[in-house]
Amino acid sequence: MRLAGKTAIVTGAARGIGRAIADIDGDAAETAADALGEAAVISLTQSAGLGLIAHGINVNGIAPGVVDTPMWDEVDALFARYEKRPLGEKKRLVGEAVPYGRMGLPEDHTGAAVFLASSDSDCVVAQTLNVDGGNWMS
Ligand SMILES: NC(=O)c1ccc[n+]([C@@H]2O[C@H](COP(=O)([O-])OP(=O)(O)OC[C@H]3O[C@@H](n4cnc5c(N)ncnc54)[C@H](O)[C@@H]3O)[C@@H](O)[C@H]2O)c1
Repeated sequence: MRLAGKTAIVTGAARGIGRAIADIDGDAAETAADALGEAAVISLTQSAGLGLIAHGINVNGIAPGVVDTPMWDEVDALFARYEKRPLGEKKRLVGEAVPYGRMGLPEDHTGAAVFLASSDSDCVVAQTLNVDGGNWMS
């Protein structure tokens, strides 16, 4: 969100991992809640972007894919337990399934954030930018 010279970035949650966790937990409600939350962030970005651009406030979002964070150590351990895999295997397979060939890193999102906070993106309004190595095409 760019506020007349002051900047902040609204980020949307990534797609996919919540569904994977829901599958091994067998909890469809968790899947629905995950999808609902992600859709809400995209919708809020659109509503706020359209509503505020006339006031010189530009709102866009970033949608990461799978990102190698400490959370993934927990996710990997869950898969190891429920699918009887060696530790680290699920994380490796998920990374290999990304079209780009690896999981994202937190710093992979820096360029998109700087772009959306800069005047170079003045005409980009109410969009959610996927930074996910090609996992999701829109
Ligand atoms: N990493 C991924 O691939 C991925 C994919 C899909 C969705 N997500 C979602 O994105 C979100 C962030 O994921 P992540 O990988 O960075 O998780 P993470 O567990 O690695 O990091 C979460 C951070 O939030 C902090 N935190 C927790 N509760 C807080 C609170 N009340 N106030 C302030 N800080 C708090 C924790 O200290 C931690 O630093 C999570 O909701 C996760 O489910 C992540």
